[in-house]
Amino acid sequence: MDSQTQMKQIVADAAIKEVESDMILGLGSGSTAALTIKSLADNIRSGELQNIVGVATSFQSEVLALELNIPLIDLASVSEIDLAIDGADEVDPGFQLIKGGGACHVREKLVASKADKLLIVVDETKLVQNLNKAFPLPVEVLPNAWKQVKEVIAEMNGYSTLRMATKKAGPVVTDQGNLILDITFNDGIKNPKEIEMSINNIPGVLENGLFVDLTDKVLVGKIENNIPVVYSPSKIN
Ligand code: 5RP
Repeated sequence: MDSQTQMKQIVADAAIKEVESDMILGLGSGSTAALTIKSLADNIRSGELQNIVGVATSFQSEVLALELNIPLIDLASVSEIDLAIDGADEVDPGFQLIKGGGACHVREKLVASKADKLLIVVDETKLVQNLNKAFPLPVEVLPNAWKQVKEVIAEMNGYSTLRMATKKAGPVVTDQGNLILDITFNDGIKNPKEIEMSINNIPGVLENGLFVDLTDKVLVGKIENNIPVVYSPSKIN
């Protein structure tokens, strides 16, 4: 197992310790969230956790949960979610996030917003001082709006590219049938709340990957003296 996978695994196992029986759980997307879903399934199978129901944030997490016999309920059928566990692409010291590396941020944000608590699981490569210096901000757009949105983003001094698929000709198509623009701002994003609202205000935009003031706790995996360890940083405002 490579060191990044070791960091993801230890953080996934630690996250499941926060889960209690009878919870409705938001099941995140991406490789770290997938490890938490597998760890959850192990705990359900062993009888340690009982009466757990999951709410999937993507086709990926839905398929995985079904394969692992984790009962699922549709987002529209629950009035609240006890805990959502999800990964992130960037986490700043104030726990503001960039998500959407897997193009799942629309449903991830819906689930996070409905959850009593959002627990973010990352390896330490995801911790940054300033958002969007290294990782582009994903924005889901309606298919015939991508060029128009790209032009408006350019007026906001953002450079955007249409995310292209691998092993399929043409662009990435999201679980909702839309496209993704990945945006980089020259100086990064210093005011995530404002940028989140401005981008979502552009006609044709469905949702962007800035998760502002949603995160309650972050678990970080790192390698110390060749051993994977996990810690929970304090939020700095
Ligand atoms: C998917 C996401 C993922 O949580 C994010 O991309 C992190 O993924 P990984 O754990 O594979 O690094 O937001 O839309």
